[in-house]
Amino acid sequence: MRPASLLLFSWVCFGALFLQTSCEDRRLPAEKLLVVTVATNETDGFKRFLRSAKHFNYTVKVLGRGQTWRGGDYMSAPGGGQKVNLLKAALQEMKDDDLIILFIDSYDVVFASSPKELLRKFQQAKHKVVFSSESLIWPDRHLEDKHPYVREGNRFLGSGGFMGFLPNVRDMVANWTGKDDDSDQLFFTKIYIDPVKRKSLNITLDSRCRLFQNLHGALDEVVLKFEDGRVRARNVVYDTLPVILHGNGPTKLQINYLGNYIPNTWTFETGCVVCHENLLSLAALKESEYPLVMIAIFVQEPTPFVTVFFERLLKLQYPKDRLTLFVYNQQPHHERQVSSFLQDHGSLYRGVKSIGPEEEMDGAAARDLALDVCRKDKDCEYFFNLDIEVVLKNENVLKILIEQNLPVVAPMITRTGRLWSNFWGALSAEGYYARSEDYVDIVQGRRVGVWNVPYVSSVYLVKANLLRSELKDYEMFSSESLDPDMTFCLKIRDKGIFMYVSNMHTFGRILSTENYQTDHLHNDLWQIFENPLDWQARYIHENYSRIMNDKLIETPCPDVYWFPIFSDVACNHLVEEMENFGKWSGGANVDQRIQGGYENVPTIDIHMNQVNFEKEWQKFLVEFIAPITERMYPGYYTKCSNPLSFVVRYKPDEQPLLEPHHDASTFTINVALNSKETDYQGGGCRFLRYNCSVQAPRKGWAIMHPGRLTHYHEGLPTTAGVRYIAVSFVDP
Ligand SMILES: *[C@@H]1O[C@H](CO)[C@@H](O)[C@H](O)[C@H]1NC(C)=O
Ligand SMILES: *[C@@H]1O[C@H](CO)[C@@H](O)[C@H](O)[C@H]1NC(C)=O
Ligand SMILES: *[C@@H]1O[C@H](CO)[C@@H](O)[C@H](O)[C@H]1NC(C)=O
Ligand SMILES: *[C@@H]1O[C@H](CO)[C@@H](O)[C@H](O)[C@H]1NC(C)=O
Ligand SMILES: *[C@@H]1O[C@H](CO)[C@@H](O)[C@H](O)[C@H]1NC(C)=O
Ligand SMILES: *[C@@H]1O[C@H](CO)[C@@H](O)[C@H](O)[C@H]1NC(C)=O
Repeated sequence: MRPASLLLFSWVCFGALFLQTSCEDRRLPAEKLLVVTVATNETDGFKRFLRSAKHFNYTVKVLGRGQTWRGGDYMSAPGGGQKVNLLKAALQEMKDDDLIILFIDSYDVVFASSPKELLRKFQQAKHKVVFSSESLIWPDRHLEDKHPYVREGNRFLGSGGFMGFLPNVRDMVANWTGKDDDSDQLFFTKIYIDPVKRKSLNITLDSRCRLFQNLHGALDEVVLKFEDGRVRARNVVYDTLPVILHGNGPTKLQINYLGNYIPNTWTFETGCVVCHENLLSLAALKESEYPLVMIAIFVQEPTPFVTVFFERLLKLQYPKDRLTLFVYNQQPHHERQVSSFLQDHGSLYRGVKSIGPEEEMDGAAARDLALDVCRKDKDCEYFFNLDIEVVLKNENVLKILIEQNLPVVAPMITRTGRLWSNFWGALSAEGYYARSEDYVDIVQGRRVGVWNVPYVSSVYLVKANLLRSELKDYEMFSSESLDPDMTFCLKIRDKGIFMYVSNMHTFGRILSTENYQTDHLHNDLWQIFENPLDWQARYIHENYSRIMNDKLIETPCPDVYWFPIFSDVACNHLVEEMENFGKWSGGANVDQRIQGGYENVPTIDIHMNQVNFEKEWQKFLVEFIAPITERMYPGYYTKCSNPLSFVVRYKPDEQPLLEPHHDASTFTINVALNSKETDYQGGGCRFLRYNCSVQAPRKGWAIMHPGRLTHYHEGLPTTAGVRYIAVSFVDP
């Protein structure tokens, strides 16, 4: 015994003596405490309960295991009689009358502290039986007046948790003759409100929630309290730290929330503890023994970067012969991308099923079907939902999620720079999004772990055995009134299955599909505003980000800078887009497209604004060119406003070269869009003042030079093939 508790105990006894009431002559020993609970099914909530009991070393006796639950639905009608039947039978077999019985629900209960604290508080209640209390009366409101007055706290009895000495509890339930679906709460309430029985059994209520916290009707009273490496729930109305937390009635989500922290599930000091428990290891398996996963891909809206999505899918770290694909595409616009992926790579996978737009199946039906394909394939061990707008940056995501060994788990993905993510931390009363207190901390990575949440979407892994048991309902997604994703999550919650989101790793992000236009050949080029990171990944040269630090900027001629800017794909898309548009200028001096209508040095070209690309191109200049300009020409700042920008085509039989000229610009950039030798011969640019040429333009590299005065220049002749360059005159 530690001195502090010894002191406390003596004080309690002294106080009791002083008040001339009897003091228990000894501390109640923890070995005499027996937790009794009824669990007919090993639900996720039950496993959570056992974990919390084990954490504090409670001894638990489970009744009714494997029996069919006939005690009614806790959410609606009164019920629970089956619990009393089982308890009564179990108590009759117990012989040690010094036992203290804690009878408690388990699917929605966690322990927040030790048997020692519980027994101390029980003793301080100075009764032989202590019931948890509630602020709401249930199930019979007419009995309200019969309840004894309480000075402070809740006045009504909750049957979901009580504790007492074995003889008293045994006597209390001895007269029970109810059926399995009769109300246990009503039964105990009637005993409690009977003054004679209350006295003879020596029953009291834990009105101030020192032992038991029922959450129903008390959500505003309970907050998390982090202290000294421990997490507790505090009842702020009664200033108590309840030992047992019970998400009774419609408060399952709140107990899930508290259970994300209590007991020692997650603390500031340790981070996530539960994340490292009960893991499954793939390391010991040969790749040929990896669990079989069905990846279900859904294309429902026109979405940018679909080609990139499939490139990433190919790079997913998981043996492809352990993967089957289900691909649903509702968009004719994406048919080419989907079918070319399946043609080129489909045979790498163990199996492929695809549903195209011509089948006119709606999204919910397709998702129901996908689940069912996995459900009916006895080899299918996991169902991995992957919506097309998900950008999975982490190639190990599938292995990580499988190893986390949870019923339903989503990798957290967010929309860049926003608080939007693929999970909800809480639900509103109507079942829609609500922000949990920890939502922002989780999204921004200040709290890292796996989190039990009420809603996940877009990308998640489901254990397929659930699809064959609790989730065997065919219509998991279809509903008259709710969105498919909400329907799915609702049905999972209703089965008492826990859904988690993990932010243990950086997994990726989700694309914005807003403002996605499909009227161009390469629509992704227009995504620089809506999905800037993905635009950059796709279109900016892979070495661009390190050109400053690694001194990759070359100086082929005085004040002429040469650096990588565009990816190969960017060059190809820009050329193809222009050729697809096709309205090349005639190369005449009169040009209605420019201010003044007269071009001194005309080229065969298409202006960016002719394909509605001028805003995007200007954004590109500001984001990727201006920083280099400012570095190379110190003291010069540019907003890149009103640049004249165009793609030029040089061809021996059309326009092979450009006479020496000044550009109408402060500075010019000139990006080579194809490759010398492969695509054309000749070409290049010569600066006359320095008699200096860039003779071997590199595809994707930009030449940047001052426009007027010093850098009088000419386009050298293209002697074979076709050469393309993208040019911008920036002024100022
Ligand atoms: C847990 O309880 C058992 C049985 O009551 C006891 O033997 C053991 O020492 C306890 N362990 C801890 C860590 O309290
Ligand atoms: C547990 O519940 C599920 C569905 O709710 C049911 O299919 C299963 O049979 C139950 N198991 C037991 C042991 O009652
Ligand atoms: C209940 O039992 C305690 C002793 O544990 C006793 O002091 C108290 O008077 C009893 N209360 C009633 C109402 O009988
Ligand atoms: C049980 O029934 C007996 C006999 O009717 C009665 O005396 C006793 O008070 C009852 N006990 C309870 C706890 O209801
Ligand atoms: C980027 O730089 C690396 C090493 O400097 C080089 O091997 C690679 O080819 C470069 N990438 C491209 C696309 O040129
Ligand atoms: C320019 O340089 C080339 C070699 O690069 C040389 O042959 C030529 O004579 C030079 N012309 C002038 C005017 O200096």
